[in-house]
Amino acid sequence: MSDRCESFILAIDQGTTSTRAMIFDRRGTIRGMAKKEFAQYFPKPGWVEHDADEIWEGVLAVMRDALASAGVAYSDLAGVGITNQRETTVLFERSTGRPLHRAIVWQSRQTSEICDQLRAAGNEAMVRDKTGLVVDAYFSATKIRWLLDAIPDGQKRAERGEILFGTMDTWLIYHLTGGNLHATDHTNASRTMLYNLETGSWDDDLLSLLAIPSCMMPEIRSSSERYGNLDAAITGGAVVPIAGVAGDQHAALFGQACFAPGMVKNTYGTGCFLLMNTGERRIRSAHGLLTTVAWSIGGRVEYALEGSVFMAGAAIQWLRDGLKILETSADSERIARSIVSSEGVYVVPAFVGLGAPYWDMDARGAIYGLTRGTTQAHIVRATLESLAYQTRDVLDAMERDAGLALSTLRVDGGAADNNLLMQFQADLLGAPVERARIREITALGAAYLAGLAVGYWDSREEIAKHWAAERRFSPLMEHGPREALWQGWTSAVARTRSDYR
Ligand code: G3P
Repeated sequence: MSDRCESFILAIDQGTTSTRAMIFDRRGTIRGMAKKEFAQYFPKPGWVEHDADEIWEGVLAVMRDALASAGVAYSDLAGVGITNQRETTVLFERSTGRPLHRAIVWQSRQTSEICDQLRAAGNEAMVRDKTGLVVDAYFSATKIRWLLDAIPDGQKRAERGEILFGTMDTWLIYHLTGGNLHATDHTNASRTMLYNLETGSWDDDLLSLLAIPSCMMPEIRSSSERYGNLDAAITGGAVVPIAGVAGDQHAALFGQACFAPGMVKNTYGTGCFLLMNTGERRIRSAHGLLTTVAWSIGGRVEYALEGSVFMAGAAIQWLRDGLKILETSADSERIARSIVSSEGVYVVPAFVGLGAPYWDMDARGAIYGLTRGTTQAHIVRATLESLAYQTRDVLDAMERDAGLALSTLRVDGGAADNNLLMQFQADLLGAPVERARIREITALGAAYLAGLAVGYWDSREEIAKHWAAERRFSPLMEHGPREALWQGWTSAVARTRSDYR
């Protein structure tokens, strides 16, 4: 039960497979939590869709349940922060707020042909220059184009102003405010491939390249400000402002208190998402990384370099569900520890191609170095190690782009619980890896953004003091063996690339 004078921040973390709500107090401690999974639709190979209505209903349910688990009422909340799976795209009707098609998920490859056409028409350099992104089906722009073609009269209706676009933050803000606000923040906008990093606004050339009417686009606001109040029908009349909004990886960077340029976090989720804070410098990557908005606060936009690895935790799930050599993902550590090394076995989990820094969508997974002595344990260990190798691929590129050497890697996400993996990661990087004490770092980041806007927390300095490592993994491996292992990985990746002959 809460002390009645105390107030709290509620954070909604709308992820790819589940939605969570958490209640945080002033120390950043979780006081209540609820989680709900939702259906994943795979209409064709490589396509992934979500039911936006189901997501919205799930958000309402987890908010209610999290409040109940903390013994807190809406009237005890000082504000709400929203963080979300990025890029996932929904088109909905302005007049009713109803979705016009299932949402197209960031993972979905259903617009890769549109991307091929954009590339063939020579748009790659222009897109990269304006948005900091590569032309890829991952981002929202081509998903909007695909949906406008799939929805009956989609283009005409959009031009008449009847259809609105949203990523999941926009979809939730719209419904949480009773349809009063069509808005997004700079971090989510920067993942659409329609946002101009230089101007901080939607780019007319990119909109017209894909014939996307500008009237569909949400207003872009800062990541930490009062957006509007929750609908009184939800709160029973209590006034609760939505005050923080950021894409999940950006919220995690904030939750990890990576406030200074050069600080890096890695979230080991379905994929691995690495972000390096580059402050007010917008670094154009020469090594396959993305330039993205870190957050926008108080009229000031800060930037990050990002590397997304598509298969991380999902590769462990493949061991469990595909190969069926694990009962649970957590067993991977015990099985990997049953041998002292993977003995030259490398798993390159390019199941859906390779993300940063390669961006090779046609590469497919491979296992190298098999001998008569190879056992399941070697495959498990090599798969775990692939998460660390892919992370180093991205970090090497970041160091080269930013001209900064990594001092420490802050980690979070499910697979960060795996001590063997974290030790191997530190060994492979030759730098310490720090696991945060507070594990729900993404939701915490959204809570911080909201709390700063409503004066619940005063400053980033105050927030940074909450951060503490639960465990620090120091590198133990010598330079020689480390580089020999690394050599083996780079050669395995080279042989997996689609242009390998
Ligand atoms: O870019 C996609 C990313 O935001 C999804 O994150 O945690 O929902 O898998 P997650």
